[in-house]
Amino acid sequence: MWRDLLISAHLYVATASAIVVPRSHVVHEERSQTAGRWVKRDRVTTDATLSVRIGLAQSNLEQGHDFLMDVSDPSSPNYGRHWTSEEVIDMFRPSDETIETVSQWLQDGGIFNESITQSDNKGWLAFPATAKQIERLLYTEYHEYEDLKTGGVQAACDRYHVPAYIGQHIDYITPGIKLMAPSDIVTEETSRDLQKRYGPESDVQPLRPRRRHWRPHWPHWQPRPSSKDDLRHCDVEITPACIAALYEISPNVGEVHESNSLGIYEAGLNYWDQLDLDLFFTNFTRIPNGTHPIDENIDGGVARTTNISAAGVEGTLDLESAYPIVYPQTITVFNVDDLVYQSNPYVSLASGNTFLDAIDGSYCTYSAYGETGDAPGFDPTYPDPAPGGYKGRLQCGVYKPTNVISISYSGYEVDVPIAYQKRQCNEYLKLGLQGVSFLIASGDSGIGNYPSPYGYDGPTGCLGPNNNIFNPGFPINCPYATAVGATKVYPGHTVFEPESAAYDPALSDMQTNFSSGGGFSNVYPIPSYQKNAVASYFAHHDPGLPYYSSIATDALLPVLPNVTALAGNTGGIYNRIGRGFPDVAANGDNIATYTGGSFGLQGGTSASTPIFAAIVTRINEERLRVGKRPVGFLNPALYANPWVLNDITNGTNKACLGQGFEAVQGWDPVTGLGTPSFPRMLELFLSLP
Ligand SMILES: *[C@@H]1O[C@H](CO)[C@@H](O)[C@H](O)[C@H]1NC(C)=O
Ligand SMILES: *[C@@H]1O[C@H](CO)[C@@H](O)[C@H](O)[C@H]1NC(C)=O
Ligand SMILES: *[C@@H]1O[C@H](CO)[C@@H](O)[C@H](O)[C@H]1NC(C)=O
Ligand SMILES: *[C@@H]1O[C@H](CO)[C@@H](O)[C@H](O)[C@H]1NC(C)=O
Ligand SMILES: *[C@@H]1O[C@H](CO)[C@@H](O)[C@H](O)[C@H]1NC(C)=O
Ligand SMILES: *[C@@H]1O[C@H](CO)[C@@H](O)[C@H](O)[C@H]1NC(C)=O
Ligand SMILES: *[C@@H]1O[C@H](CO)[C@@H](O)[C@H](O)[C@H]1NC(C)=O
Repeated sequence: MWRDLLISAHLYVATASAIVVPRSHVVHEERSQTAGRWVKRDRVTTDATLSVRIGLAQSNLEQGHDFLMDVSDPSSPNYGRHWTSEEVIDMFRPSDETIETVSQWLQDGGIFNESITQSDNKGWLAFPATAKQIERLLYTEYHEYEDLKTGGVQAACDRYHVPAYIGQHIDYITPGIKLMAPSDIVTEETSRDLQKRYGPESDVQPLRPRRRHWRPHWPHWQPRPSSKDDLRHCDVEITPACIAALYEISPNVGEVHESNSLGIYEAGLNYWDQLDLDLFFTNFTRIPNGTHPIDENIDGGVARTTNISAAGVEGTLDLESAYPIVYPQTITVFNVDDLVYQSNPYVSLASGNTFLDAIDGSYCTYSAYGETGDAPGFDPTYPDPAPGGYKGRLQCGVYKPTNVISISYSGYEVDVPIAYQKRQCNEYLKLGLQGVSFLIASGDSGIGNYPSPYGYDGPTGCLGPNNNIFNPGFPINCPYATAVGATKVYPGHTVFEPESAAYDPALSDMQTNFSSGGGFSNVYPIPSYQKNAVASYFAHHDPGLPYYSSIATDALLPVLPNVTALAGNTGGIYNRIGRGFPDVAANGDNIATYTGGSFGLQGGTSASTPIFAAIVTRINEERLRVGKRPVGFLNPALYANPWVLNDITNGTNKACLGQGFEAVQGWDPVTGLGTPSFPRMLELFLSLP
């Protein structure tokens, strides 16, 4: 990013540009390569007005990890002393000196102070300026760049300069070097291109519900009428009694804490319906009919339907997995985005950003890693001009985050710009600092994906020129959420025997043949709390697969992580130095459910995640009963105390070309540290302050 001043000044002369950069200035950002699909066109006319935005450098961003460990590591004296949202904003906001220095520089450059606005979270300054003004300020030239793919035109420069003393105070300036294509962004316009690339089954929007295994017509199987407490058939049908027995979960007795509702994220028209819940409650539980979640409908979202045919598989599975564990505690459904966005498969479930905006207002305008606020074209924008779209403003901080949030949706990190991911991951960190636990599904496609036509990332589901490089998920790659994998009770086994990883090569029904997501990120290095576990895994159970050791950065790879570049010529197929996932696991196969009025078995990490999240909610309930705070970010405590989980040592997470990792003793990238033991987790977390 930084270049020697004389060299760049020299270059300008050589290219016959009129710009002479004073010695006091340095290059702040420079494009390292031209993106092939963009073509440089005419100069932007000097009197054209540009909306300029300056992302200010935040304070203490690099210390975020340590701050989070300070309140989440059980060996820290500050364990459980979570921060308020004001404390979080104050710690990371740009310093007064930064704001003052940058606005003074702008004034000296002829930008009237009155025309400058500052975002509420103090993160950035915005003002209108003519091209001439901003070109003079930054010693640059703006050109129109045309996107050959969409025909879109955007103003950008190749490099820009700021006084040397300003560099440390700013993150980035737009318009600048960034060419933000709807490229990397999936819109209806580009969906045809995507279909050509990936086939009609494809969709590369970053978040989608984990593949579920809807299996109402399994040939040799009928629902077995049995008592609610029957444990004889848990190998073919997982009921709430099977889950309670597996993880030794006792009923929730005593006063429930008002502030401890379990939060569940829903999108993609995954409505819940009361009849399904009642049928499920009646057949499998002692929960009374009419019990239902609290609906928090975000930006025009709709959680509930009264049309039984419209009930969503994911929405129902999540509630039916969690209710038996938390009841009589409540569940809060966060249904995200208006129905126009939710029904567009290329935009719906885009990212989770509008959800995070709704539960933390400061995130709406948060600037970091060169990104500010939501990414238009990638994230839904409000008011939504489409017919039937939500006409209100983007909801910022309208809802309170619950102590535990379960997300059964995910996608792949190669589909999401690096800076975008990091900004979002940082928000999981900030909410963790405030005591919120995020549990996210690790995916149902093992180390990659199913072969076509099930795959959507390449012919095998893996990546690279040989279609063999593993394909890690997003947002579970973020080290500040807890990634949940899936296990199963192996056929013929009981709940009193150890479970296996979900993937089952012995079964011939393709729909049951899912592989629990796992592997190593290309974007995040191994976090401190996981170092020993991962080192021990490689020391004692090296998978024997070729690997590379490389972390994607913006400088190396301008937008999306490029695993081909990361692997280079090593022949490696996974990243040995990336954050490993999942962290934990729970049952996710043959789950008895009612959806759309009928009975069926479903599976996926979609079920494992609300099960694990519900158990964490119960742990919080017991802590609240004795006057302690919720547990917040779980991973440091779990990795330091693996005895609170049942280690899973059987099964694999094979996918794409039949490769994958194996579940082994200790942490592994298939089932993580293992499945929950409610009594042992309770013992641990009640012993912590
Ligand atoms: C610009 O205006 C704001 C408030 O209107 C003030 O706080 C700030 O000090 C001014 N900056 C300069 C450099 O005058
Ligand atoms: C649900 O309960 C009814 C009534 O007891 C019973 O006939 C039916 O088989 C049960 N369904 C399942 C899937 O267990
Ligand atoms: C609860 O609802 C289910 C589904 O409508 C019904 O079959 C059952 O009889 C109801 N139970 C009671 C106690 O009303
Ligand atoms: C109920 O939902 C189904 C499936 O989405 C839909 O086809 C049908 O039109 C809906 N019925 C009503 C009355 O809205
Ligand atoms: C482990 O999985 C294999 C199939 O992959 C199965 O035959 C075996 O019974 C399982 N063992 C356990 C302990 O679950
Ligand atoms: C299960 O899926 C794997 C990976 O896609 C495939 O190789 C295998 O043949 C499948 N097994 C069966 C029995 O369909
Ligand atoms: C990814 O990297 C490879 C190898 O460096 C390069 O050939 C390819 O063009 C890159 N892909 C993209 C989309 O930048």
